Amino acid sequence: MCGIVGYIGYEQAAPFLLKGLEKLEYRGYDSAGICLNDGQKLVVRKAKGKLQELKELTGYGKNVSGTVGIGHTRWATHGEPSDVNAHPHLSDSCRFAVVHNGIIENYLQLKEYLTSKGMVFRSKTDTEVIAQLIEYYYHGDLIDTVIKVLSKLEGSYALGVISQENPNEIIAVRKESPLIIGLGENENYIASDVPAILAKTRRIYRLENNEIAILRRDGVKIINTDRDEVHKQEEIINWDINAAEKGGYEHFMFKEIMEQPKAIRDTVTPRLKNGRVVLDEISLTPEQLRSFRKINILACGSAYHVGVVAKYVFEKLLRIPVEADLASEFRYRDPIVDEKTLTIVISQSGETADTKEALKEAKRRGSHVISIVNVVGSAIACESDDVIYTWAGPEIAVATTKAYSTQLAVVYLLAIHFAELLGTITEEDYQNYIGELEALPSKIEQILQNEKQVQFLASKLFHSKDVFFIGRNIDYALSLEGSLKLKEISYIHSEAYAAGELKHGTISLIEKGTLVIALATHEPLIAKTISNIQEVQTRGAYVLCLACEDHREVESVAQSTIFIPKACDMMLPSLAVVPLQLFAYYVASLKGCDIDKPRNLAKSVTVE
Ligand code: G6P
Repeated sequence: MCGIVGYIGYEQAAPFLLKGLEKLEYRGYDSAGICLNDGQKLVVRKAKGKLQELKELTGYGKNVSGTVGIGHTRWATHGEPSDVNAHPHLSDSCRFAVVHNGIIENYLQLKEYLTSKGMVFRSKTDTEVIAQLIEYYYHGDLIDTVIKVLSKLEGSYALGVISQENPNEIIAVRKESPLIIGLGENENYIASDVPAILAKTRRIYRLENNEIAILRRDGVKIINTDRDEVHKQEEIINWDINAAEKGGYEHFMFKEIMEQPKAIRDTVTPRLKNGRVVLDEISLTPEQLRSFRKINILACGSAYHVGVVAKYVFEKLLRIPVEADLASEFRYRDPIVDEKTLTIVISQSGETADTKEALKEAKRRGSHVISIVNVVGSAIACESDDVIYTWAGPEIAVATTKAYSTQLAVVYLLAIHFAELLGTITEEDYQNYIGELEALPSKIEQILQNEKQVQFLASKLFHSKDVFFIGRNIDYALSLEGSLKLKEISYIHSEAYAAGELKHGTISLIEKGTLVIALATHEPLIAKTISNIQEVQTRGAYVLCLACEDHREVESVAQSTIFIPKACDMMLPSLAVVPLQLFAYYVASLKGCDIDKPRNLAKSVTVE
C-alpha cells in the first residue's frame, strides 16, 4: 500500500520518478503525485486515478524540471482519493514537501495543536501534519528538525522529505513501513521496494526502524535519532532484471503462475541434503519442540489459507493441536498463547500490519515465533525468532500465486522435519514424503501444459454470477484459496464451503445453472464428495470437478472435469491450486478485468 520513490542526481528527476512509481503500482493506489525542487521553489503535480493521469499532466515528466524530487502512489486511508489528498504534501509556506507510507495514529491531536498555532491545512490526510510539523519546528537545520518531528509521531511511517532551501538533499526515514536506499554513481534513490530502482542500480541499503538516511548526489549517510552515524552493509540485489518485468507475458499473474515450478524448486532444493530436510534457519532444540502443546498459525488473505492447509498437515504428521487464525482477529481476542505455544507466521510481503501486530502479541505472551516470509529483511522477518524465506522472487500481481505455492512447500518441509525430531514419522514415510516433495515441480509443469483445457472451461463459464467451491478435509482448505482467487480478480461472487456443510443452508442458493466447483482430490473422502456433487446436481447446479487422474469415476457425476497427477494427500493442494489459479485468470481476462491490479486491493496491506 502506497509507494515512495525519490531521486537526487544530475539528470531530470521527473521521468525516473514516474517510471519508479509505475514499478510500485502493484502495491495498490488510487492517486499519485510528484514534487521537485526546480532550483527556486517546490513544484507539486498530483492526480487522482491511474498513474497515466499524472503522466499526461506532466507531459510524461517533461513539464516539471529539477534534479531532486520525491514521488508517491497513495492508497486512501485518511481522506478520500482526490488530487488534494494525494501526496506529496507541502507545509503551510510550501517550503517543505513530504511523502509518507504508513499511518500517523496521533495526527488529530497534532493537527489540533498546529491549527491552534495558526497553521492552515489543505487536505484530510494524516501525512500533512508531518510537513506542517517540520515547518513549525524548523530553525535552519532540517535533520535536527526531522528528528524532533519523529519524536512527536506515533504510528508507522516511511518518509521522504525535501525542502525548498536545500536542493542538494533528500531525507528519508523508516519506522515499521519499508524503505530502501539505492546507491548510484553521482545519484541516489529512495524507494518502497526494489523494482522501482532496479533499472538504475543493484546496490542498496535496507533502512531499519528509526534510521535516517541523508541522500546527496555524491553519497548517502545513515544516522540514528541521536545523530550518530550508522555503518550499514551494502546489499547487492542479484535478481535477474526480468524477475520484476513481464518478460513477454500479458500479465504478471500469468507469468507468476508459470514460475511456480521454479519457485518451489528454489525454495525446497537448498533445504534438502542427502535426502534429509536441513533447516539451519530454525534455532529450536528437539527438547523445546517437545515442550509445545499447541501450534498457532497467524496470517491474512491467501497466507491464511496456507495456514488452514498447514493445520491439516501438522496435525496429521505431528499429532499436536493446531489453530490457524486470521491475524486481524487474533490480536484483539485475548488469545490463549504462552511459552508452550509455537507460533508460525506466514506473509509474502512481511509487512502486513495485522500479521505484524499479531506476531508481536504472540511474542509478548512468550511464544516462540517462526515466520515464513518472501521479502528479505522485511519487518515480520526481523521481528521473528526464526525466519524461513520462500525463494519465490518478486511477486508483483496483487493476487498471489507463486508465493502461496512456496509457502505450502515450506509448510511441508517444516512438517517433515518436525515429525522426524518428534519421532512421529516412520523412516519409510519420511522417504516417501521427500520423494513427493521433490516431484511437485515437474507435476506442476505437467498441469501447466494442460492450461488450454482450463482456458476452454473458463470461456464456457465466465458468465457465472455466483460460484460455490466445495471440498472436504484438505480440499476444503484449498477451496478457500480457489474461491478467493476467482472473486478477487474477476469480481464474480464466490464462496468456499465445506462440502458436508452445504445442506445446512447454502444448498438453498443452488438453482439451475449455478456453478459449483467441486474439489475431490482427497482420496479417503472421495465417495462422500461425490454424494455432495450429486446433491447439488439434482438441484440444477453445473459441476466442474477437480480430481486426481486415477479417479475417472467423477467424470460420470460432473459436467466437466479437470484431472491432475496423483500425489500424497497432504501435498495435493500444491497441484490442485494451479488449475484454480488459471481458471480465475482466464475468467478475469474474458471479463476484461484489470488482472494484476484488481479494484480496491493492495498487494501489501500496511494498515489495519
Ligand atoms: C493482500 C494480498 C493477498 C495476500 C494478503 C496477505 O490482501 O492481496 O494476496 O495474501 O494481503 O499478505 P502477505 O504479504 O502478508 O502475505
